[in-house]
Amino acid sequence: SFLSMEKEPVTVLVTGAAGQIGYAIVPMIARGAMLGPEQPVILHMLDIEPAAESLNGVKMELIDAAFPLLRGVVATTDIQEACKGVNIAVMVGGFPRKEGMERKDVMSKNVSIYKAQASALEKNAAADVKVLVVANPANTNALILKEFAPSIPEKNITCLTRLDHNRALGQISEKLNVHVGDVKNVIIWGNHSSTQYPDVNHATVTVNGGDKPVRELVANDQWLNTEFITTVQQRGAAIIKARKLSSALSAASSACDHIRDWVLGTPKGSWVSMGVYSDGSYGIQPGLVYSFPVTCEKGQWSIVQGLKIDEFSRGKLDATAQELIEEKSLAHSCLN
Ligand code: NAD
Ligand code: LMR
Repeated sequence: SFLSMEKEPVTVLVTGAAGQIGYAIVPMIARGAMLGPEQPVILHMLDIEPAAESLNGVKMELIDAAFPLLRGVVATTDIQEACKGVNIAVMVGGFPRKEGMERKDVMSKNVSIYKAQASALEKNAAADVKVLVVANPANTNALILKEFAPSIPEKNITCLTRLDHNRALGQISEKLNVHVGDVKNVIIWGNHSSTQYPDVNHATVTVNGGDKPVRELVANDQWLNTEFITTVQQRGAAIIKARKLSSALSAASSACDHIRDWVLGTPKGSWVSMGVYSDGSYGIQPGLVYSFPVTCEKGQWSIVQGLKIDEFSRGKLDATAQELIEEKSLAHSCLN
C-alpha cells in the first residue's frame, strides 16, 4: 500500500512441481521460508503432460491455502511459459532413484532434460536468474545446464548439497545431544553421491557462548572417521529403503535454506555447502560442479579459502572429483 512500501514480487520456478519434492516445497516458498516473511512471490510450476491434472490440483490447493505472500500461480506443461521472467529457478523435474540404484543410474533419463531446459531458461528467464538443480545426478545436471546456457553467468548455476550438509549437522547434534542450531561449519565436498566427503575438521558447537571444535567434543575419532561419514553418504539410500520413496520434506527444506542463504547471506562466522562451478580452489579442476564451503553476501557466494586439508581429507576430495570427471564424460556420451 501507499504507506507500507511493499516489495515487488519475486518469480520462482519449480520444475517437477507435481512430484513429491514439488508438493513439499511450494507451500514453504509461499510461506516465506525461501525468501523471507516480507517477500511476496509468484510461483511458476512446471511438469509434463501426464502430470498436468495433478499439477492443476496443486495449484488449487495453493489457492485454497490463502497464503498472503503468494501473488500469483502459473501451472503449466509449457517450458517456455514456465521460464518467463523467472528470478529463481528450482530444478526438481526428472526421475528419482529407486532402491538399489546409484544416482548416476538415472543419468541418461535426466541429463537430456537439463540440456533442453537450459535453452528455455536462457531465452525466457531474468538475465540474473539464480538456478538451483535438485534432480539427480544433481552436480552433473547442473554442469549440463551450465554448458547449454552459456549466457547465464556460471556463478548463477548451482546444485543442492545443502541436504547433505544439514544431514551432517543432524548427526553431530544427535551424537552430542546439542541443539542442531548450535552446530556449524561442517563441509560437504564434491558430489551429491556416496563419494561425497562430509568433513568435520573445521566444525564447531557453540557452548556457553564460545565455539568448541567438534573433534574435541566428540573425542571419538574412530566414529568421526568412519560411521559418521558413511551415515551421511548413505542417508539418501536409507530414506529410500525406509519410505520406498526418496527424501522429500528434507530436500525441500534444504533447497529453501540454499536459496535463502544465497540471496539473503550467510550469518557472520559461518559457512554452508553449495555445489558450484569450480574455479580451481583446493586443487579441484575447473569444469566440474563441485560442493565447497561457501559464504554468501549480497546475493553472491564465495568459496571459503585457506582451510587446512590433511592427507586423509585430500584423498577424499580427489576421489569424489574423480567420480565427477567420470560422470561428466558419461553425461556427454548420453547426449550424443
Ligand atoms: P518425483 O518423481 O516425485 O517428481 C518428479 C517430477 O518431475 C514428476 O512429477 C515428473 O512428472 C516431473 N518431470 C519429469 N520430467 C520432467 C520434465 N522434463 N520437466 C518437468 N518435470 C518433469 O520425484 P521427487 O521425489 O520429487 O524427486 C525429484 C528429483 O530430485 C529426483 O531426481 C531425485 O532423485 C532428486 N533429489 C535430489 C536431492 C538432492 O539433495 N539433491 C534430494 C532428494 C531428491
Ligand atoms: C537424497 O540424497 O535423498 C536424494 O538424492 C535422493 C537419492 O537418490 O538419494
